[in-house]
Amino acid sequence: MQINWYWKSIPLALLLVACRSASESGVGESPNYAVIPATEQSDTTGAWAGLKSLQLDTTALLQREIWAALRDYAFGGPSLVLGAATNVRVVLDTGLVRSTLNVQDRGIELLLRDSSQLYRGLSLLSQLGVLNAGRLPVGAYHYRPRFVYRGMHLDVARHFFPKEALFKYLDFLFFYGYNKFHWHLTEDQGWRIEIKRYPKLQTVAAYREETLVGHYNDTPQRFDGQRYGGYYTQAEVREIVAYAAAKGIEVIPEIELPGHSLAAISAYPELSCDPTRSYAVATKWGIFDDIYCPTEKTFQFLEGVFDEVTALFPSRYIHIGGDEAPKGAWRESAFCQDLIEREGLVDEAGLQSYFIRRVERYLNERGRQIIGWDEILEGGLAPKASVMSWRGTEGGIAAALADHQVVMTPTSHCYFDYYQSDHPEEPLAIGGLTPLEKVYAFEPIPAELPVEKHRYIWGAQGNVWTEYLPDFAKVEYMALARMAALSEVLYRDSTQRRFADFAQRLQTHLDYWEGQSVNVAQRLLDLRFDLAGGNAVPLRVTDLRASVAARVEQQGPGDDTWTAVEGTSAVLNEPGIYAFRAVDEAGRVGRATRVHYEPHLGLGATIELAQPPDRRYPGRGGSGLLNGIKGSDEKYGDREWLGFSGEDLEATIRFAEPRVLRRVGLRFFDGEGQWIYLPREVELLASTDGQTFRSLARRSDWQRRAKVEEVEVALEAVEATHLRVVAKNYGEIPEGRQGEGYRAWLFVDEISIE
Ligand code: ACM
Repeated sequence: MQINWYWKSIPLALLLVACRSASESGVGESPNYAVIPATEQSDTTGAWAGLKSLQLDTTALLQREIWAALRDYAFGGPSLVLGAATNVRVVLDTGLVRSTLNVQDRGIELLLRDSSQLYRGLSLLSQLGVLNAGRLPVGAYHYRPRFVYRGMHLDVARHFFPKEALFKYLDFLFFYGYNKFHWHLTEDQGWRIEIKRYPKLQTVAAYREETLVGHYNDTPQRFDGQRYGGYYTQAEVREIVAYAAAKGIEVIPEIELPGHSLAAISAYPELSCDPTRSYAVATKWGIFDDIYCPTEKTFQFLEGVFDEVTALFPSRYIHIGGDEAPKGAWRESAFCQDLIEREGLVDEAGLQSYFIRRVERYLNERGRQIIGWDEILEGGLAPKASVMSWRGTEGGIAAALADHQVVMTPTSHCYFDYYQSDHPEEPLAIGGLTPLEKVYAFEPIPAELPVEKHRYIWGAQGNVWTEYLPDFAKVEYMALARMAALSEVLYRDSTQRRFADFAQRLQTHLDYWEGQSVNVAQRLLDLRFDLAGGNAVPLRVTDLRASVAARVEQQGPGDDTWTAVEGTSAVLNEPGIYAFRAVDEAGRVGRATRVHYEPHLGLGATIELAQPPDRRYPGRGGSGLLNGIKGSDEKYGDREWLGFSGEDLEATIRFAEPRVLRRVGLRFFDGEGQWIYLPREVELLASTDGQTFRSLARRSDWQRRAKVEEVEVALEAVEATHLRVVAKNYGEIPEGRQGEGYRAWLFVDEISIE
């Protein structure tokens, strides 16, 4: 056990700006201990620390000089000459089981079990200060991160944010105890880091001619006609890296290869497999076929880039991308086919693996390690690579089983560019639905991973892709609340987490950020609801609840006043639009959630699905297809749509008594940008005994007009006890379409029967 003792005074004129007396700031109120991530707390007496005339600076959080000073101070750096305002004591003791921030009348003490935990101690101090208007409540606050890698990512390529915005982002990371910033710097739509050896990366690759407006899935797609771009100079990169380091945050740069490289190829077409063509920086989102060709020229270029990147970033890890690289150009290239032959590779996946290994070797020789998206497993993982598991946790499991380090960042829980609410007023986002409680429930260590491999799960990360986040206010809206939720996942195991308790603490944080003019999402009063028994008649909306304690109010069809709902459940007994909203104890009024109820013959019938929807998009299961409520016209991620990954829909509906069927309405979502395709074919079948089914109609002639294809099938008064709906998945996505080579998603919702 190593113990270093330091007893010094810190110049609190810097740490704490003067000065409001205790009485002015409202003695008698109880302290707010609602820190995130939560700490174990002891000796919280309800008293304020008698640190006289002290006021934390709530705008700049803590100042950088202080962190640097404290770091030196704690780790045996040059001793400081300090003025006396109060006592701060920093102790490093590797024998401790956890770290503690101890706030007492006589001063502040930080007991650290390892040096990196200084920063969480400081951010705790900062949180306690800002939650209590500058006063510090007496108590011992114990903390210990569960994971070593606690990351947040930001895509600055789809949209570009100035240096000051990145400082703010890093402030958020610090505040919530993160220690890694994954900086996504290069893309099809822009190259954002100055590389002095390649000036056209600045003059050409950093700018695009215009940008897609609205959603990728809108028809027709529209563009703004405005040139757009920018990049960080090397001086700015150094400033950002230093700013992060002063907060205990390591910056991991990402230079994407071999795919997502159209901007670089536009500047230097010789990096592509067909240098005779001309290329342009992408103006819309998605995946592009033009990727780096694995020529010596390309490797030389990338090595030149990495020489400058490694000089700018001290991080041990360099992210090399590796995701979403279509292989069409390599298949058609005689050079690539020769190379595959010469190197004895199996196919283009093997060639990608060869590409990544060469880059890994170059970086390893310079003392760096690579990390890449889970596609780098395909064709064989580079020997020392770490893996970011994003398409699910399967890639992470495979890598951990092979003794490679893994960061979990599955789309299901960690993509903060997905919608956080299915409310219709939610600002435009890429898709999906990842509400706070889902992030909060994330478990980075998969249940199926054997215990002896758990140590390879290095941590988790939240990703913030910015196709639909044109300015930093939108980034704040999408990222901040969910960043807080994920932070607790990174510090506490699932037995120590209760969402209701978290939500209550989060509310005070949201109020604080709002007070700081941060555009944080105030979504805790959005209602969730279930529909009891699914297809019961009349429909019962049950378990209407917000994340925090609140009463619920309702407006029925035609009402223009709000009436209180008894308890948290309501009955929808006539067609029309119902609205519900929550009002909390402090009088905050949540957004109204509307339910459009259109009963039809299918209500009350039973429904069976031959295969369940994908667990990422379960909707309300089969009964959600027959509940009289249609899914959103804009968002397939709401609770009505069912998503099938590569599978067909086969739904068999059994009526309580024989019915005469005259019309069946079906709805399918169409979203190529998210690899969601209309079915190949739909077939309706009927039966009078549940055994033999006869075909009533087949359809495959879609008239796509919007994101939702409404298919109406008229029937000639067919009497039936059973109706079967079969929708054939589009199947493997062909070359040249978004998601090429993958099986398509099929999204289905209400089956309306008349
Ligand atoms: C990714 O979202 N393409 C890593």
